[in-house]
Order: sequence, then C-alpha cells, then structure tokens
Amino acid sequence: MTPLVLLGSGNGLGRVREAMLARRPGLSIVRADEDGACQAQVALCWNPLPGSLGALPKLQMIHSIAAGADQIFKDPSRPPGIPVCRIVDPDHRLGMVEYVLWGVLHYHRSFDQMLARQAQAIWDRPAQRPARDVRIGVMGLGELGREVAHRLASLGFSTRGWARRAQALEGIETFEYARLDVFLDGLDMLVCLLPLTPQTAGILSEKTFSRLNHGAVLINCGRGEHLVRDDLVAALRSGQLRGALLDVFEAEPLPQDDSFWRTPYLIVTPHIASSASYEVIAEQILHNLDRLHAGTELANQVNPEHGY
Ligand SMILES: NC(=O)c1ccc[n+]([C@@H]2O[C@H](COP(=O)([O-])OP(=O)(O)OC[C@H]3O[C@@H](n4cnc5c(N)ncnc54)[C@H](OP(=O)(O)O)[C@@H]3O)[C@@H](O)[C@H]2O)c1
Repeated sequence: MTPLVLLGSGNGLGRVREAMLARRPGLSIVRADEDGACQAQVALCWNPLPGSLGALPKLQMIHSIAAGADQIFKDPSRPPGIPVCRIVDPDHRLGMVEYVLWGVLHYHRSFDQMLARQAQAIWDRPAQRPARDVRIGVMGLGELGREVAHRLASLGFSTRGWARRAQALEGIETFEYARLDVFLDGLDMLVCLLPLTPQTAGILSEKTFSRLNHGAVLINCGRGEHLVRDDLVAALRSGQLRGALLDVFEAEPLPQDDSFWRTPYLIVTPHIASSASYEVIAEQILHNLDRLHAGTELANQVNPEHGY
C-alpha cells in the first residue's frame, strides 16, 4: 500500500483525505506530524511548509489539491525530478465563468454606481452601453481563462486574451507574451487568470494599469502576488481604476486589520471564485495513484520548467 502524506495548511487537506478514504478505506494517509509520514511516496499539498517536500526520501508523486501548483514550487527543497500534478475539472471552469461574469456585469451594468447612489437615496439612471463597446482582456488562456474568454465573447463583449504562446481562439483577439502592451492598450476591464510564476509575480502594477482606459476595472482571480497593492490603491484613488474585485491575496485568510477590507471601490471575496468538489479532487488523485502504480503517464502534470 502506497503511503500518502498531507502537507500544508487549511481544512481542505482533511476534507480530501475523508473523500479519498470514503472511496478507498484501506489507504494510508497521514499528516506530516504523524507516524510514518517520512515513508510517504505521495505528497498531497496545499501550501506545504518550505523544507517539507525535501524531507520525504521515498517521494514519487507530488499532487496539488487545487488547480494552482505555485505553492509547491515555493518549497525550495522540492526534489526536481518528481512529477507534480494538479486538479483540472470542468465544473471548476464553470464556477470561474460565473464569478468573472458576475464581476463583469456588476461594473458593466453600473451596479457599483447604483449601490453608491442608493446609500444617498438618489434616483439616477446610469447610461447603458452595448457589450460590444466594452473591451475586456483576459490574462492567461489556460483551462480557466480560455473558458472565461469564450463566454465573455459569446455575450458580445469585445474580448482579448493574453498567453505565453500565440493561440488562435475564435471570436477572441489573442496576444502572445511579447505583445503585452498592445493587449492592454485601451482595455475597459482586465481579468487576471494567470498562474503565479517568477514571470507573472507583480504583473498587476502601475505600468499595467496605466495602459488601460481611464476608469477601467480589475478582476484578480489568479494569486495575490500578481498584484502590487500600493499601485492598486493609487490607481483607485486617482480614478485610473474605477473599481477592483479581488478574490486572492498574499496572506490568506486576509487579516482582519488589512486595509483592503475598507479600501473604497474595492470588493474583497475570500478565495471562492471557483473550486473543484472534494469528491472530484479525491477521484483525480486516486486516478493518478493508480497510474503511478501501473507505471503509466500521470494526468494533469505541471511543467516544472514553466512552473504551471
Ligand atoms: N481564485 C480561485 O478560486 C482560483 C481557482 C482556480 C485557479 N486559480 C488561479 O488561476 C490560475 C490559472 O489556472 P488554469 O487552470 O487556467 O491554468 P493553466 O491551465 O495552467 O493556464 C495558464 C495560462 O496562463 C498563461 N501564462 C503562464 N505564464 C504566462 C506568462 N508569463 N505570460 C503570459 N501568459 C502566461 C499560459 O500560457 P500558455 O497557454 O501559452 O501556456 C496559460 O494560457 C491558477 O494557477 C490559479 O492561480 C484561482
């Protein structure tokens, strides 16, 4: 029986363990501080502590319990030759579409302004603008970004997408890495669905915001480290950004005394944009466990060179 270890924090790991044991009661899944942890051949991770992966000499597979694997690459002790896998789920894509769509419509149909007017009992009817006149850019055209961009385009928004490599997507104007500035120029809304890598950290900065239309909107569903927070606050203050919807933060949970909770024109959500169910996560990990035993190629592997 392959021993598995849970590495990291949050209650997600415990829920994944329960869902896996419900399907395979005989599995040996221990926490990092329990007996037998150092014998583990498989590590299931959500924010593993630095040094924890390197302490597993028998490791054969590292599995994120989420779509993102950046947290695994933050552990400098990660043995480089061990495959890293992540979760890819169609329902996850739909959840992200719903979240981004809600954010886009909130601003597109001026609910931000109407809520502010309501607080002052002001009857004011914001002008309606056709979706085709609204330029939305999606950063990252992977499992999630591609679906989001397609759905926005199908609703008539003038949609652009940016990825590392050139992509051809029907109804979407796409831009490769080197054409970031052209992608950003004149956007009304910017949606970040990038993975966190050394190339993408800090990408939501003053330099980026300054290329957008004055009064643009930011929706960040990637990672907190994509954002330069002082630049965001300055852009909201100057009106360069009319609003921002943030689902991800450098420190999660966002501390109670964090000024983001009270920053005008900023909407904070607690990293809920989208997640796969614990059942799906358990099934995908078990599927990969079977493939590991059979010596066949693991599903949903992350490219360690690219970090996503
Ligand atoms: N807030 C939430 O609830 C939530 C939930 C799930 C995921 N997420 C975040 O969303 C991220 C994306 O997930 P995914 O499954 O769509 O990832 P994915 O399938 O790995 O796709 C990543 C996309 O980003 C592009 N990219 C990577 N590095 C880039 C760079 N330096 N410049 C330009 N484009 C770059 C890739 O370009 P290529 O196509 O050229 O490779 C690809 O299109 C995750 O990593 C995670 O951080 C958040």
